Amino acid sequence: MNQDELKKAAALAALGYVEDGGIVGVGTGSTVNHFIDGLATISDRVGGAVASSEASARRLAAHGIELVDLNEVTDLPVYVDGADEIDGGYCMIKGGGGALTREKIVAAVATRFVCICDATKRVEFLGRFPLPIEVIPMARAYVERQVRALGGRPIVREGCVTDNGNLIVDVHGLRILRPTELEAELNQIVGVVTNGLFARRRADVLLLATQQGVERHVA
Ligand code: 5RP
Repeated sequence: MNQDELKKAAALAALGYVEDGGIVGVGTGSTVNHFIDGLATISDRVGGAVASSEASARRLAAHGIELVDLNEVTDLPVYVDGADEIDGGYCMIKGGGGALTREKIVAAVATRFVCICDATKRVEFLGRFPLPIEVIPMARAYVERQVRALGGRPIVREGCVTDNGNLIVDVHGLRILRPTELEAELNQIVGVVTNGLFARRRADVLLLATQQGVERHVA
């Protein structure tokens, strides 16, 4: 199987976590797009979906799946999303698609985070994938200086404006040994909206697609 077929296999395995009549939180990205297409095949038993991006909202709506405002939701049994990297402790780097802030918000509300990945995303240490940070535009230069002081090499993502009207700064050169601490430290920099470390709210389940099948790992 090629990488896209593996992504699809992981995504379809996540359909088993959708509760009958329940609302499902939906992430963003090419793996999640397969999940959304899969949801369309069981739409009669989907109560609705909270989308983590405008792109996912459009795809859900195109399949006729009802979009639900997160503020109207008190019970969100499951959130399904991909990752750019995931380590053995279920901490992740996310935000390759620039949707990290809304992803983190929806994930925070959900009872269970199901991460869907192909096996290339599984790493020993986070940080080879540049860590995305969403930044208020007027704070860009200040945030870049602070990130350099932490040993990172910030590069502003060209032509990217988030759904919230902000910039993405990708931080290269980090070898992240303490993701929870770094997540908190980056959040303290004024002008940072969110960083792409999902360590405080990490995955509860990893569906990892390999050539031998989809492995299910539970935290
Ligand atoms: C988007 C994300 C995605 O989950 C992540 O980038 C993985 O994307 P893909 O499924 O396309 O490989 O965090 O902000």
